[in-house]
Amino acid sequence: MKKTKINVAVFVSGGGTNLQALIDSTYLIHANLSLVISNNKEAYALKRAENAGIPALTICKEDFADLESWEAALLSALEKHDIKIIVLAGFLSILSENFIKHYEKKIINIHPSLIPAFCGKGYYGLKVHEEALKRGVKISGATVHFVNEIPDGGEIIMQKAVDISGLRSAAALQKKIMEEAEWQILPKALELVCENLLAQDSE
Ligand code: GRF
Repeated sequence: MKKTKINVAVFVSGGGTNLQALIDSTYLIHANLSLVISNNKEAYALKRAENAGIPALTICKEDFADLESWEAALLSALEKHDIKIIVLAGFLSILSENFIKHYEKKIINIHPSLIPAFCGKGYYGLKVHEEALKRGVKISGATVHFVNEIPDGGEIIMQKAVDISGLRSAAALQKKIMEEAEWQILPKALELVCENLLAQDSE
């Protein structure tokens, strides 16, 4: 039978507002949110998954002897749930090149700036917005991109700009960019990626 949906796993570490945007989105027709994986036992995102009835696992790096065994545990959970696409939604651990190879062009990330501005190693969380404020940019935004071996360096899938002129704190920038860009483009980009994958599979 022809497949109509792609099984998706969402990797989280914190509040999970981007996960919530995916759960609430009406754009996701070809994506099945099948699994949430957190690397933090305290992540509120786990509660969001539970409320939505999505199976959720906590697989913390600290509980494993090394990176290889942690990633082997991730891969085995993904395989068990037949996951084809991974969304990094505020996931604060770096995945190795070896892991990424298993899901080449199948992992997407949301970054809270207009790449190539304010991105790469060390640019995560509020730091991104602090640097944008310091530089005095008037427009920032968010980017959804494929993950490759270069931090925030993979192919760009979707971007949305946000006017941040007049904002004075990194927290204010973060809030506006989440509301006006991240929560909007992440579901749209995921739907696009799933649609394309289904089209490829039926060729
Ligand atoms: C978002 O700003 C996202 O762009 C960044 O981390 C934050 C995660 O927020 N990568 P949440 O956990 O989705 O609320």
